[in-house]
Amino acid sequence: MIRMEQISEYLCKYKNHNFAIGYTTAEYIDSLQTFEIRDSDIFLVTYPKSGTIWTQNIIISISEQDTGLPAYLNNSKQMPWLEHIARNDVYSLRPSPRLFTSHLTPTLMPPGLKNKRAKIIYVMRNPKDNIVSYYHFCSILTCLETPTNFEDFLDQYLVGNVGGSSWFDHIRKWHAERDQYNILFLTYEEMVLDLKAAIFKICSFLGKNLSEAVIDQIVEKTTFKNMKNDPKANYQFMPEEMLKGQFMRKGKIGDWKNTFTVAQSETFDQILQERLGDLGLKFIWDTE
Ligand code: A3P
Repeated sequence: MIRMEQISEYLCKYKNHNFAIGYTTAEYIDSLQTFEIRDSDIFLVTYPKSGTIWTQNIIISISEQDTGLPAYLNNSKQMPWLEHIARNDVYSLRPSPRLFTSHLTPTLMPPGLKNKRAKIIYVMRNPKDNIVSYYHFCSILTCLETPTNFEDFLDQYLVGNVGGSSWFDHIRKWHAERDQYNILFLTYEEMVLDLKAAIFKICSFLGKNLSEAVIDQIVEKTTFKNMKNDPKANYQFMPEEMLKGQFMRKGKIGDWKNTFTVAQSETFDQILQERLGDLGLKFIWDTE
């Protein structure tokens, strides 16, 4: 039997990817190599804390408009994590369009996604806000290690010693392989700055011709405030022993400034330039 390597009390590693313990196995990850893709499948891929649950809500809201998705108990069942063992569920029996969420890198994704089959929406967030969001999340999600302090967490993040592994590798790999996939790149920041435009973009990519009135309803439903008040969107179905706080925290651009020191920020800028400078990515760091 192939085993994942346990690298801490909370994480295990397989094929260079760190997983929280208890959600998947090496065999299950390998089984994705023969996962049958349908052209109608929709995948949301992100590095953790980039706006996954937000975009998941948007995709579900769009998809249920004209197809009437079968109702599942909650959003994580409606649009499950591809890499988590599908307990009591057989994805091959699900009606189309099937919706999946994933934090995987291209190497571990089903090869059937290549040659532009199915659709992938990839959401990226500026890494400083991503780190701060991840830092706080680790303190409320009990399956992740609570960081002792921000400095320490930043060090672990920079070496990819967190769930989902390295943010830098995630971004690089998906950008490097983009030509092999039918993929839409979005940023968390563009969603914050103009949610309606982002939803139009997603609809157009998914080939959904929704009326402006319906788009407006989806915008309303997926604002930070309304998602925070919606127990399904705010993942309040998770038992308190798993999630000890609000999933929806601040939902802002630029919160990193409340946490990073000037020195940490400058060092981070330098590392970002060294590691991803060649990709020419533009980040929105704040709204001022
Ligand atoms: P913060 O911790 O900065 O508030 P993920 O779903 O990938 O785990 O990302 C979580 C982050 O997305 C959290 O960021 C959360 O508050 C934010 N988020 C979720 N829904 C949002 C929304 N409707 N508008 C803005 N941000 C949202």
